[in-house]
Amino acid sequence: MEYHKFSAKPCNSYLFFTLLLFFAFLASFAHAAVHFHEFVIEAKPVKRLCRTHNTITVNGQFPGPTLEVRDGDTLVIKAINRGRYNVTLHWHGVRQLRNPWADGPEFVTQCPIRPGQTYTYQFTIQNQEGTLWWHAHSKWLRATVYGALIIHPKLGSPYPFPMPKREIPILLGEWWDRNPMDVLRLALFTGAAPNVSDALTINGQPGDLYRCSSKETAIFPVEAGETILLRIINSAMNQEMFFGVANHKLTVVAVDSAYTKPFATNVIMIAPGQTTDVLLTADQTPARYYMAAHAYNSANAPFDNTTTTAILEYKSAPCSAKKGQSLKPIFPQLPGFNDTATATAFTSQLRSPSRAKVPLEIDDSLFFTVGLGLINCTNPNSPRCQGPNGTRFAASINNVSFVLPRRNSLMQAYYQGQPGIFTTDFPPFPPVQFDYSGNVPRGLWQPVKATKLFKLKYRSKVQIVFQDTSIVTVENHPMHLHGYQFYVVGSGFGNFDPKNDPAKFNLIDPPERNTVGTPPGGWVAIRFEADNPGIWLLHCHIDSHLPWGLATALLVENGVGKLQTVQPPPLDLPRC
Ligand code: C2O
Repeated sequence: MEYHKFSAKPCNSYLFFTLLLFFAFLASFAHAAVHFHEFVIEAKPVKRLCRTHNTITVNGQFPGPTLEVRDGDTLVIKAINRGRYNVTLHWHGVRQLRNPWADGPEFVTQCPIRPGQTYTYQFTIQNQEGTLWWHAHSKWLRATVYGALIIHPKLGSPYPFPMPKREIPILLGEWWDRNPMDVLRLALFTGAAPNVSDALTINGQPGDLYRCSSKETAIFPVEAGETILLRIINSAMNQEMFFGVANHKLTVVAVDSAYTKPFATNVIMIAPGQTTDVLLTADQTPARYYMAAHAYNSANAPFDNTTTTAILEYKSAPCSAKKGQSLKPIFPQLPGFNDTATATAFTSQLRSPSRAKVPLEIDDSLFFTVGLGLINCTNPNSPRCQGPNGTRFAASINNVSFVLPRRNSLMQAYYQGQPGIFTTDFPPFPPVQFDYSGNVPRGLWQPVKATKLFKLKYRSKVQIVFQDTSIVTVENHPMHLHGYQFYVVGSGFGNFDPKNDPAKFNLIDPPERNTVGTPPGGWVAIRFEADNPGIWLLHCHIDSHLPWGLATALLVENGVGKLQTVQPPPLDLPRC
């Protein structure tokens, strides 16, 4: 900027200040950058657990590239599909105001990008800071197609905590020793649950506790005494996880791109879809310390019970400790796999930093039962009925097992006024009342398949209570709403009590998120204002439950005028 030129002329200070103001005004716009990227989606050999797989990646990287932007910036990402599968990309947690076309879920806001085709995602980050991520939103491609999306504050605005000396994205993932697309295909054929993963990973690496892996274990160097920011993302397919670093406290400062009141903890619980930013001060004896993650398994079902590790390495650690096999890193204590008490104690500490803008009067009060189900077969011996007792697994919200359309995406059908793709009669409460978390009669285990959406008026103030059922098993279902951030105002175990529970809601400083888990056999209540028109997928972020139908979509109508109306779609939006 050139304004020191003017300061050399003190005779006209009025002009000087006017110009200064003018430039400050210009600068406030000029600082928003536009980031162009090409994401080539293609198969590349990736070796893990002693075997090489032809893995679908972005630009040959696994995990994919990290995107780093500031609040207010625009991203323009040209997705080029050079793989053999249909694909779409989703920017998990980005609000995409009036711009569902850039959201990405296949057959919801767009038709898939076919092999050989391209589509350019263009969107602006509006009033979001912290950690988000991106992933494929087509079948099980997100097992390997994912990466971090880091949003720094606007230029000149600080973090609400002392500036960390370094920042490290920690992507938790799951690895199958086979093509994940085949794992899903087999499961959808047999009706049984998909195979559990063979390894958990940190930044794509299983770590020291797996075969053929320790040479590539992720190592994060730190200077003694410095404070670093870990941006932890659970990009795993099906697994909630506990994460900890040996001997080090973690101070939680943000979740899902919203700041929190800071609090210290030894361990965090993080569900697929969620992010957690923590500060860590390297205040221990210079040495090597493991960071580790393993499953938090709330269901009565098989799970990957392995442990992934990475290493926090003090630069001043004695050399023998760096190279030598002799000095093993110190291992953190993680809770037991089914330690729901620790998981609950962790999530219940989350608070917004200050008084939150929680809707107080509610226009749409919804009660959604979420859980698994079983579809009975006419021939239980059929190879397609290998679920429990000759059934096929399903999942549902309010007994509706969500089916994606095939002929068009929901959003395109809605925009073009094409009938017959979906209906808007999704029930606001379950068709039958029962003891949801108790012993559910077998007659209530079978959901109905349909493509039903729930319609909301623009600016409607919405409350949704998600009630986990004990059908097949109770479970923590991480419920993710596209296009929104919501407040988590309450939760509890057992059945939600509409008379007494609302009085205990936190309407002062509840945490703001985009993904929240139902306590196993319990309920969680969220509130938000429907200020983003479009069709927004609401689903369980466990990727074995999504294809079984644990989803619905909210159709938020346009308001009045251009600023309350969905933008026109981009010209290159794929057609079905
Ligand atoms: Cu992270 Cu519908 O997705």
